Amino acid sequence: MQAKKEIGLAIVGSGRIGTLRGKLAKMHPSVRFIAVSDANPEAAEKLAKTIGADYWTTDNLEVMSLPEVNAIDIATSEHEHTVPLLAALDRGVPVLVEKPIALLEEDAKLVIAKAEALNSDLHIGYSRRYKNRYLIAKEQIVQGRLGVITGACARLYNSRSQCFAMLKRNKGATPVVDALTYYVDLMGWLLADNPVVEVFAKGQKGVIHAAGYDTEDVTWAILTCKDGAVVNLGVSYALPEKWPSVGHSARVELLGTHGTLLINDDHTDQIMQTDIGFPHVYLSDHKIETVFLESSTPGDWALGDFLGPIADETRAWLDYLSTGKPCNLAKPRDAIRTLAVTLAIEESARTGKTVYLTPN
Ligand SMILES: NC(=O)c1ccc[n+]([C@@H]2O[C@H](COP(=O)([O-])OP(=O)(O)OC[C@H]3O[C@@H](n4cnc5c(N)ncnc54)[C@H](O)[C@@H]3O)[C@@H](O)[C@H]2O)c1
Repeated sequence: MQAKKEIGLAIVGSGRIGTLRGKLAKMHPSVRFIAVSDANPEAAEKLAKTIGADYWTTDNLEVMSLPEVNAIDIATSEHEHTVPLLAALDRGVPVLVEKPIALLEEDAKLVIAKAEALNSDLHIGYSRRYKNRYLIAKEQIVQGRLGVITGACARLYNSRSQCFAMLKRNKGATPVVDALTYYVDLMGWLLADNPVVEVFAKGQKGVIHAAGYDTEDVTWAILTCKDGAVVNLGVSYALPEKWPSVGHSARVELLGTHGTLLINDDHTDQIMQTDIGFPHVYLSDHKIETVFLESSTPGDWALGDFLGPIADETRAWLDYLSTGKPCNLAKPRDAIRTLAVTLAIEESARTGKTVYLTPN
């Protein structure tokens, strides 16, 4: 039995995911101290009250520098990761940052340079890795049951309501860079040590463009990996406003020399119809009457417990910190590669040209 280290956690960014991480951390037996910050004082105070945190502030540096803090979660909005993340790395404690590592490659490079110079313990929360069906898929690959992966595909759908919410936060948080990114990471993890070297993509504009955003309704990409394996990735966040999914509707398929694995992650196997209306995790004023249960991307509350990928991912990271048990979260090199692939998909769709990537 390994000794358990006590954890003092600083959560920077007290929005939806910061709140969820905070609630989950509060339930973890090794977490003895939680302090939170947010640029918006109401958000920080609300989270502190909700979870009974030990301290709250609007000053990110202050919360990260508290003597009790020996781990930091950066849960700020996508375009606000870099500054607090660089400061967190300077503290020399383990850090978890939410996906994507950054929206711009130059920001991600600054982070990687610092993390490597300081030999930082940095993980990135690509929580698809902690959805049971994908972990079990990884196990089949590790056991060699698919043989050599020669091809794969993943496509991701969501409602336009969710797309507008993301783009309103930041125009760079597009369906490709902010959502398909999970499946780029997933493929990178499943097809380990076989980085993408070539990207070609096409997209078509429609309702999202008509609403004033320079973003496609549908984007399809063909990626070629170093050994020649071909991966087809696609995303549409333009499904009707009241599409029954409250998160990702996805399909993932893996084709190998010795096996094939098909994963239906559309959640159409659990359909509820309710006249009362079902709340959306991200959109407070959005109610749907038909819902695919378990389609919420982070997971679901059930009788006081939170079930699903973010619950398992948070627990895995905290277990890793307290006992040293290895976790499967993405590392900085995975995250910068994933960002480069998503940006290449957008560039190729925009220019009509193939983008070549050098594996890092
Ligand atoms: N893994 C998942 O399932 C999952 C799901 C949703 C979002 N995310 C990621 O989590 C992160 C946060 O998303 P969210 O949905 O919680 O967003 P949110 O808008 O609900 O919360 C972000 C919070 O950060 C605060 N903030 C922004 N800039 C700040 C700064 N410089 N300093 C301090 N606070 C600042 C905002 O005031 C806000 O309260 C994003 O990177 C997002 O992509 C992950």
